[in-house]
Amino acid sequence: MNCRICSGYTRTIIDLGISPPANSLLDNTRQSVCSYPLVLEYCNSCCNIQLRDCLDSRDLYKNYLYVTPDSKMLNEHYEYLTRFLLSNKYINSDSKVLEIGSNIGLYLNHIRPFVKEILGVDPAENIAKLANAKGVHTICEFFSKELAMDLRNSKGKVDTIIARHCFAHNASPHDLLKGVKVLLDEGGVFVIENAYALNTIENNEFDQIYHEHMFYYSIQSMTKVLEMNGFKLIDILISLVHGGSIVFIAKHISSKNSISNSLRTHLQYEKEKLNMNTLARFSSNAFTLKEDLLKTINAINQRKETIYSYGATAKGNTLLNFLGLDNSIIKYCVDSTSIKQGKYLPGSKIKIINEDFKDVERPDYFLLTAWNYKDEIITKVRNKGNKDSAFIVPFPTLHII
Ligand code: TMP
Ligand code: ZN
Repeated sequence: MNCRICSGYTRTIIDLGISPPANSLLDNTRQSVCSYPLVLEYCNSCCNIQLRDCLDSRDLYKNYLYVTPDSKMLNEHYEYLTRFLLSNKYINSDSKVLEIGSNIGLYLNHIRPFVKEILGVDPAENIAKLANAKGVHTICEFFSKELAMDLRNSKGKVDTIIARHCFAHNASPHDLLKGVKVLLDEGGVFVIENAYALNTIENNEFDQIYHEHMFYYSIQSMTKVLEMNGFKLIDILISLVHGGSIVFIAKHISSKNSISNSLRTHLQYEKEKLNMNTLARFSSNAFTLKEDLLKTINAINQRKETIYSYGATAKGNTLLNFLGLDNSIIKYCVDSTSIKQGKYLPGSKIKIINEDFKDVERPDYFLLTAWNYKDEIITKVRNKGNKDSAFIVPFPTLHII
């Protein structure tokens, strides 16, 4: 195929087979859902990794069930990110801030005391409603050039546009950037946060591959897509959240800002590490983990011990479907999100239950599908008095706690 960023030819790096869209949870086990390929392609020209087959965003986000969890780790990350933005003067008390894909508004709420105005934009009706009910004004729409022009005409330009873990959820980053171009003030900053492709690859996190993640940005591919749309990358911040994330700071191309040392250093490292050899290893490691994890799970199953999964995550869905696990092996999936509870994971048809364990037995093992919150989830479970259930942690290397 041709790269959706630079039109260069791409090469297939991994094929995980077919999987249903991860957040299309089922109301009952009779409900069926279509599965679509999860194939990753690499473009050698701009070092971009992307899905070969992208689903229509409107189908993915119509009724969306991902609610940002109220997590200690995420709250600490919000603090870390906000300090970085303030100390580098990317935001200040006069900033008008718009967040794209703001979900229920947790980050906007966090940043509210430090800036002048906040506004959210999120396409999922049920989620935008929750945000508005919590007092975070959220427009329920896809961010587009048309919306950006309407907002500019009605409210004026903004100083800061933030897109956390949603920029890569877009089959056409060029369209989104055209909107940012229209709405962002001349001296303003565009803050993009995504899982970092190099961390995904180096930590073998193949479960980060799902239909919402259409792109896996490297510093190089982000630089390219920004430049093609009249922006320049000036800084980055590396963070441990979600298995390794990166925050990109971009300004209009006319900006006088020079490139930060941190950006220069990481770019150099990325150029050394991101290549066809690393990508080939990523693919073979995924198949090795599949074998090892299946061996572990089959042995537990033969001992007639029970396994539940912990976290009805999108990545968990990729993992379960790639391994071919279903409700005959994993009886329940535990998750704190109330709108997910009582529903079933697509494909594996595992029932989602809450974290209380009032009506169900504790399992012998939890397969930790929300491994990015490992410490916090294990602490929570132990503090509730469950000292016995062991945790199977699949990433970055398979281990049992
Ligand atoms: P995420 O990794 O995409 O943010 O999804 C995390 C999922 O894990 C989300 O559905 C909420 C769930 N979760 C719990 O069930 N318990 C917890 O303590 C945390 C932090 C998350
Ligand atoms: Zn490319």
